[in-house]
Amino acid sequence: MGLVLSIANQKGGVGKTTTAINLASSLANLRNKILIIDLDYQANATSCMGIDRGSFQKSIFDVFKKEVGFEDILIKSHHRNIDVLPAKTMVEGIEEAIIGDTNRDFILHDHLHKFKENYDYVLIDCPPSLGYITTNALVASDGVIVPVQCEFLAMDGLTQLLNTIRIVQNKKKVNKEDLTIYGVLLTMLDKRVTSGFQIVNEIKTYFKEKVFKTIIPRNITCSNATFYGMPVTQFSPRSKSSISYKKLAKEVVSRNEQG
Ligand SMILES: Nc1ncnc2c1ncn2[C@@H]1O[C@H](COP(=O)(O)OP(=O)(O)OP(=O)(O)O)[C@@H](O)[C@H]1O
Ligand SMILES: [Mg+2]
Repeated sequence: MGLVLSIANQKGGVGKTTTAINLASSLANLRNKILIIDLDYQANATSCMGIDRGSFQKSIFDVFKKEVGFEDILIKSHHRNIDVLPAKTMVEGIEEAIIGDTNRDFILHDHLHKFKENYDYVLIDCPPSLGYITTNALVASDGVIVPVQCEFLAMDGLTQLLNTIRIVQNKKKVNKEDLTIYGVLLTMLDKRVTSGFQIVNEIKTYFKEKVFKTIIPRNITCSNATFYGMPVTQFSPRSKSSISYKKLAKEVVSRNEQG
């Protein structure tokens, strides 16, 4: 119970937030109880779940500052079975607060330890960087989903991410815990562009069975949904991207059942 998955890639705009909210929505439709943790200052996941950034005072970053606990900031979204620990933009003093903490890599991990039992899946939307916040996300996670955009230079930066994952795996060994690469997700494939398929082959050659069978197509409905602050799976349930995210959710569940 309570499988914690980080959606991480320090490269910007590869589909982390889109994956976090649509996977959450699709898993919730399969009757799972979901917690989304928004760890990005851009607070995109918070907005995309229809939560007005002006409607709350404290955010996940205040948890890092030890000012509040999860219970104080938890928001029940409009979507059935999805709760959100929201992020806020313009929060000062986070890095300093984290650096000053001797337990700095385990802050999120320790808060989630009991809390995750209330959920079937906890999805963490990571920021586009490999700093303390992402390390906290990875340490708190059982697995990481790496979205990779099917475009030129897709592999760029993946070595750095894999190194960070290895470092976190070593940190977690202390608690006899592990962090797996749960899956590599190919995103925004434009079927009209042949180089996209070359990227698909390149990633499959490197990551082999780690690559999810589901590939998310580039689909304008997906970005339109972001504009309206909704997962595409609700905005346009029959769109290609929506159908793909539903398929992805089934793959995620099946990997979980296989252990
Ligand atoms: N399958 C898709 N088809 C078309 N547009 C998409 C698709 N997936 C994501 N997008 C759009 O691409 C942009 C980047 O996506 P997203 O915000 O999910 O990436 P990200 O990795 O979270 O970015 P950041 O690193 O800035 O947090 C957004 O405008 C989103 O609406
Ligand atoms: Mg994002």
